[in-house]
Amino acid sequence: MTGHEIILAPSLLAADHANLSDAADLVIDAGLKWAHLDIMDGHFVPNLTFGPGMVASLRKKSPLFFDTHLMLDEPHRYVEAFAEAGAGLISIHVEPDYPVAETLDKIRDLGCMNGIVLNPDTPAKAVLPYLEQVDLVLVMTVQPGFGGQTFRADMLPKIAEIHSLRHERRLDFRLEADGGINLENARLCCEQGCDTIVAGTAFFESEDRSTFALDIKRLR
Ligand code: DX5
Ligand code: ZN
Repeated sequence: MTGHEIILAPSLLAADHANLSDAADLVIDAGLKWAHLDIMDGHFVPNLTFGPGMVASLRKKSPLFFDTHLMLDEPHRYVEAFAEAGAGLISIHVEPDYPVAETLDKIRDLGCMNGIVLNPDTPAKAVLPYLEQVDLVLVMTVQPGFGGQTFRADMLPKIAEIHSLRHERRLDFRLEADGGINLENARLCCEQGCDTIVAGTAFFESEDRSTFALDIKRLR
């Protein structure tokens, strides 16, 4: 548990990509303020999604805060484009070989919140050098690349470990989980310290999105 309110960020990956502004409206209708945008390059992950042009178009149609998750081999080459397109938060993975610390600083210089992301096989210690300079740590609870996968409960100890580090160092970053999340496992993530939850399939396939959103917010 943390001092942060719980935020639910529905992933538009699970929505109808031909009608993304309608999908953004569904997020607003559910009483939410954040949407999670999954940006994939076909290299870091074996799938392709949206680019900055799509984000800029959606920015004109929606007041949502865009939690932008870059699954790119060379994220440092694109942070400027996504900031200009209207991202509110830009998260970059720790695994590829690029100047991570500089890129995190650059994201803030561009006026956005920054985040660092860990794949399931990446240990918590990989983000230790960056904890003092981030607004959010994102723990992947599936191997990134596709929506609709099964949540990995073996990621819960990693969430707990990062939460402990946050507490020990008196830091204030948000702790987010992403991948295969439903109400039941969101509860487990929040018990271990998460305050920010991504849900694609569970949100967009929910029969009552407002109730789902409220149930997640009440997990605190
Ligand atoms: C996976 C993405 C996730 C995913 C979430 O690569 O980063 O954001 O789309 O979707 P669900 O909730 O369907 O796993
Ligand atoms: Zn994501």
